[in-house]
Amino acid sequence: MLGLIASSIIFWQVAESNAREQLHSQIAVLRAQALAVRRYTSEEIKPLLAEQSGVQFLPQTIPSFSAQTAFANFRDRFPNFAYKEAALNPTNPSDKATPWEEKLIKQLRGDTGLKEIVEVRSTPQGERYTVAFPLQIKSEGCLACHSTPDKAPKSMISLYGDKNGFGWKMNEIIGAQIFSVPLSVTRDQIWDNLVVLIGSMSAIFLVLMVLLNVLLSRLVITPVTQMSKIAEAVSMGDNSQSEYTLESADEIGSLSKSFNRMRRSLDNAMKMLES
Ligand code: HEC
Repeated sequence: MLGLIASSIIFWQVAESNAREQLHSQIAVLRAQALAVRRYTSEEIKPLLAEQSGVQFLPQTIPSFSAQTAFANFRDRFPNFAYKEAALNPTNPSDKATPWEEKLIKQLRGDTGLKEIVEVRSTPQGERYTVAFPLQIKSEGCLACHSTPDKAPKSMISLYGDKNGFGWKMNEIIGAQIFSVPLSVTRDQIWDNLVVLIGSMSAIFLVLMVLLNVLLSRLVITPVTQMSKIAEAVSMGDNSQSEYTLESADEIGSLSKSFNRMRRSLDNAMKMLES
């Protein structure tokens, strides 16, 4: 039982840390995908729709909009994953950082060397594995729409207003790409594996125990009980007991032979005393 408990604990810890590493690499792939959609939008879509954008503002040409919309479509198949481009002062109010997201962004702003923050967050729906990556303004192009309202396209102002999403500066970390996934999914999987492990180990232990008991009884307990019975009878002066010899090369076999030799020597000694 102790062995089972110990191996279950070790298994759980190893499996949980493996599961987290796996989630981490899945999130890294999703992030690369989100960045690829962003780049595709700004390099391929935006130039193509530059003319129409002058007449009517098209959010579809905005990298952040396309990355988050593409991810929303991805969630149709994988609803467990969540993605948000959260900002302290966002253009679209739905991107406004919630208090816990704000804490992560401030942490990233405080230490610009930080490439990511990993956190296991408790929510009413259970624990979520969360990774935040900094969103930094790295090109002057971004400031066309995010520095001051007078520089931004009029069509954009009329759609989003002139209050939010401005005042961003070059190299500033203005928000974070935040991915999360519930730990319960992997925990359920680990639990299933643990049940199989405990089941098979219990079965093996049980078979071993039965086998050991049978062998112990045959090879040790029965012969020793037999010899002890004879010894007791002989010590009481009863010489009618026949000799017991176990034909085996192990310790119990050699004990039975020595025992018989001792009994014969004792008989001889007694006879010599009597004569
Ligand atoms: C043509 C104007 C324009 C340009 C250029 C632009 N953005 Fe935006 N950005 C927007 C608009 C409009 C939104 C809101 C989109 C939405 O509705 O989701 C936005 C949203 C964002 C968001 C999500 C948070 C928020 O404000 O809602 C981030 C992050 C962001 N932009 C970063 C950048 C970066 C980085 C660049 C430069 C690579 C850039 N933007 C270039 C107009 C622009």
